[in-house]
Amino acid sequence: ANPSLLILAGDGIGPEVMAEVKKLIRWFEAKRGIAFDVSDDLVGGAAYDKSGTPLTDETMARAQAADAVLLGAVGGPKYDVLDFSVKPERGLLRLRKEMDLYANLRPAQCFDALADFSSLKRDIVAGLDIMIVRELTSGVYFGEPRGIFTEGNERVGINTQRYTESEIARVARSAFELARKRNGKVCSMEKANVMESGVLWRQVVQEVHDKEYPDIQLSHMYADNGAMQLVRAPKQFDVIVTDNLFGDVLSDCAAMLTGSLGMLPSASLGAPMANGRPKALYEPVHGSAPDIAGQGKANPIACILSFAMALRYSFDLGVEAARVEQAVEKVLADGLRTADLMGPEGGVPVSTSGMGDAILA
Ligand code: NAI
Ligand code: MG
Repeated sequence: ANPSLLILAGDGIGPEVMAEVKKLIRWFEAKRGIAFDVSDDLVGGAAYDKSGTPLTDETMARAQAADAVLLGAVGGPKYDVLDFSVKPERGLLRLRKEMDLYANLRPAQCFDALADFSSLKRDIVAGLDIMIVRELTSGVYFGEPRGIFTEGNERVGINTQRYTESEIARVARSAFELARKRNGKVCSMEKANVMESGVLWRQVVQEVHDKEYPDIQLSHMYADNGAMQLVRAPKQFDVIVTDNLFGDVLSDCAAMLTGSLGMLPSASLGAPMANGRPKALYEPVHGSAPDIAGQGKANPIACILSFAMALRYSFDLGVEAARVEQAVEKVLADGLRTADLMGPEGGVPVSTSGMGDAILA
């Protein structure tokens, strides 16, 4: 059977950027004989409009069964008045929670033609291609006890950083598996100098490495130094694995090494399924962009690169993923620009479908 891909285009520019991915999928089938069992379903406001819920149980079940899920974006001003229990975002949160997607992958990739968009100097970022793996379902955002308590005559705010051995081990495995599909190099970041959870993090990552992934080159770094190194010389890294809090900060920082929101893909991975593939949800980092929806202005590259990640990390089609990325690189080098990429040096203005067609060509 062909691998299955569930497409949830969602709201706003979601369906517009997804239409360009579907062109690529058709191309792979027609020209390369690489076929997927693609099915479409609703999520977010689009699902609410039809069924009164942002994600039906049927859609949830299809997502659990799919080899990979590709999501566009959810939300829009029309839904801002809804009760939180049926807000579009809840559809996305339910997917992430029920699929138990504990490894959040945020690549920072800088295409040469866009190096001047970066907050950093061109030579520091040109050709950058790193991947931050952030633990997403545990750590200080979830640990108990938490709350604001009274102690004596003042209030005290408490959060707890808590990681079990198995939580660390599974996200470490995700990072090592990725490294095998990339350049065989992982840097783990924590604060083992001042945090007990950091001491355990470092030990467990090292143990998983020594037992199961001795072929990977593993290093450890304190997360504050990591932040510094990320803006000083980001190309020294390939895969970075870190906890929920440090990952939140470091991945946003890394995103700005590369420029526009319209360029940023992401993935969230869970446990391996019976077929060995990890549960996986791929999505652009951006939202539904209601300000430009329906005008053919959206940049489809973040969604297209999310599909490329699915090719590489869910379907073992690294060569095809690289083909897509090279096509993106080429059209950018040729000067094609959606509005969000139009800098002072100008370029050839293209629409959403114009960009998709050029990448396909
Ligand atoms: P946004 O990411 O939708 O837009 C922020 C700005 O970036 C806007 O000016 C938009 O036009 C621009 N932009 C975003 N993606 C672009 C693309 N592909 N090409 C060109 N320009 C692009 O974030 P915002 O405005 O805060 O939220 C809008 C809606 O999206 C809200 O309902 C929010 O809840 C939802 N949202 C959904 C997310 C998701 O589905 N994962 C993530 C973030 C926001
Ligand atoms: Mg954040």
